[in-house]
Parts: sequence; C-alpha cells; structure tokens
Amino acid sequence: MKSVTVNTPGGLDNLVITESETPTPKTGEILVAWHATSLNFHDYLVAVGGIPVANGRVPMSDGAGEIVGIGEGVNNWKVGDKVMSLFFQNWMDGVPTLPKMMFVNGETINGFITEKSCVPATSVTKMPDGYSYAEAATLPCAAATAWRALMVEGKLQAGDSVLIQGTGGMSIFALQFAKAAGAKVFATTSSPAKAERLKEMGATAVVNYKEDPKWGKTIYMLSNGGVDHVLDVGGGSTMKNSIEAVKIGGHISSIGILGNGRKGEITFPKLFFKHIRLIGIAVGSKIMQEKMVEAINISGIKPIIDKSFGFEKLATAFRYQETGQHFGKIVLEW
Ligand SMILES: NC(=O)c1ccc[n+]([C@@H]2O[C@H](COP(=O)([O-])OP(=O)(O)OC[C@H]3O[C@@H](n4cnc5c(N)ncnc54)[C@H](OP(=O)(O)O)[C@@H]3O)[C@@H](O)[C@H]2O)c1
Repeated sequence: MKSVTVNTPGGLDNLVITESETPTPKTGEILVAWHATSLNFHDYLVAVGGIPVANGRVPMSDGAGEIVGIGEGVNNWKVGDKVMSLFFQNWMDGVPTLPKMMFVNGETINGFITEKSCVPATSVTKMPDGYSYAEAATLPCAAATAWRALMVEGKLQAGDSVLIQGTGGMSIFALQFAKAAGAKVFATTSSPAKAERLKEMGATAVVNYKEDPKWGKTIYMLSNGGVDHVLDVGGGSTMKNSIEAVKIGGHISSIGILGNGRKGEITFPKLFFKHIRLIGIAVGSKIMQEKMVEAINISGIKPIIDKSFGFEKLATAFRYQETGQHFGKIVLEW
C-alpha cells in the first residue's frame, strides 16, 4: 500500500510516495481504508518543514474512509462503517491537557495521506449523513475549530453577530455555522470576487482588509458598536483590528497566524476596558466533533470545496494553497 511521507528537512519537493505492508489491527484498533484528506495551514507547515517532524512522517491531519478491519475488543464499529479522523487522537472530552493533546495526526503521529492505517477505535467519529469522503475530510480540523469557537467558547445565540476573516476553510465553515444558528455575519477578504461570493452566502457586509487597513473600525461602525464574536486568523497581523471590531463584552477566538502574524503588539487597555474575552483555540475534542456532526445532519450544511486533487498531487495542491486563490477547502481524494 502507498503513503505520502515527508522527508527531512521537509519542503514540497521532499514529499515522496512510499510503499509498505498493510498493517493488521491490534486489540482496540481498527484498520481504515482512507479515501480523502483536506489541506490545512497546519499540514502546509508540516510539509514545508515549518513544523519539524520525524523523517518519513505521513502528513495530513484530516482523513475520511471506510473501516476494513477490526481488532479484538472493538464492539462499537463494524467493517463498512464510514468514519473520519480527530485532530487530537486522544482528546475525547473535557478540558484540554497535555496528554490529551500529545498525539496530533500528521505531526507527532502519522496522518492520513495513506491508503490504509490502523488507528485506535476511539479516535474516529461517524461522518455526517450523505457526505462523500472528500466532504467529510474537510471537517476534523477546519470545521471543528469554527464549531468550537462559535458554539462552545462563544456560546453563540441567534441574533448575535460574528466577524470572519478571509475565505479559507475555517472561516467559511464559521460563516455557515453562524448563519445556520441565526447569527449575522461580517467578513473580510482581499478579493472583490470573493467578497461577492461571501455576500451570496449571506454575509451582511464585507470589507477588503488590503484596501482598508483600519478594517476593525469599519466593522465596528457597520455592526453598530461591534460584533459579538471574532474568529481571528492572523494573530499579530489582525488582532489589533479584531480588538477594534469586537463589541464591549464580546469574544475573540485566537485561531491562526496568517499574514506572518506569529508575534504582534496589542494595546492592553483596549482589551480590558472593552471587557473582551480572548481565548486561544487549538481545534477541539471528540465530543465537540460529534456534536458538530449532529448539527450538520440537522442543518444539512455542505462544505465548500474549491478544488480536488489526486493522491499523487499533494505538492501541487499545497502550491495551489500557497497562491491563496481558494475559497473554502482544498481536498485530495483517491
Ligand atoms: N487553532 C486552530 O485550531 C486552527 C484550526 C484551523 C485553522 N487554523 C488557522 O486558521 C487560519 C486559517 O486556516 P485555513 O485552513 O482556513 O487557511 P486557508 O484556507 O489557507 O486560509 C487562507 C485564506 O486566509 C486569508 N488570509 C490570508 N492572510 C490574511 C490576513 N492577513 N488577514 C485576513 N485573512 C487572511 C485569505 O483569504 P482571502 O483570499 O479572502 O483574502 C486566504 O485565502 C490559519 O492560520 C490556520 O493555521 C487554526
């Protein structure tokens, strides 16, 4: 069977196809034939060596596939069940702890651009009803993060307002979940064409963050005194504006570092005089993913897939992601 592996020190030219024997599931494990994965910024960092991994690591944190083998002691799954991965193999429920976050698929353990692998039976959830493998593979990282930010940490209520930033996979899921829950969505993008698509999907107002460097103030005005929730994807490159955009007593989820935003300055009095609740988010637990799947089954939300590539085209897919042309998710299916 084939897998794609990252050769040290990483880089898109160091993604190679390797052959290995199909493994046999041990006690408590299932053997899954994976059929799709999706691209996340985290996977990109692993692929290019920005997050150093062991030589020969199978990248990609998202996987969807079919169970083709069952180890001893596994009673809750059967051959033929369609499943999708978790971002953190061990985080089942409750608050995050180091042991729960130790095993990150596609980083500290092998991920899912592989034809088959054995995983603990506890480390997958059902796919939403009627979803293809490619659709399900968009969910475990990007959608679960948006779900947690809005519904778990934000405790979103109908009538709330939400600011999403850019048109990557996580932000587009946030728009869809927020709209389904009856919230008003404001958005930023660098592209006029993408702004039109955001409006078609129900965004109330869209601001171009490249043309308007003070977009936080603009969103504050457009939303009549700030939004209830901000999903910040740029860290140092966006947090100042996110703090401007949020309303007094509002919530900001710090999610990403796009735009070279690993570090940055914030004006602390703005944070405390606005009584802002600021929380860092790293995906979520299995129970959060299961609740998200239930909500998707009820709401009928389908992911926006921008482009699909084949198994051998991982580097090509990452090069496409680098251009920033995509709207929503990029997937690979086989
Ligand atoms: N913490 C977590 O658990 C978690 C989980 C998922 C994702 N993330 C993070 O969230 C971010 C988005 O992830 P993703 O997978 O959705 O990425 P993605 O699909 O690669 O998103 C790229 C898009 O983000 C927008 N963007 C780029 N620079 C921006 C900036 N300075 N300000 C605002 N928007 C900007 C662009 O949108 P336009 O073309 O519309 O301008 C770009 O197309 C990444 O930093 C990722 O690491 C974190």
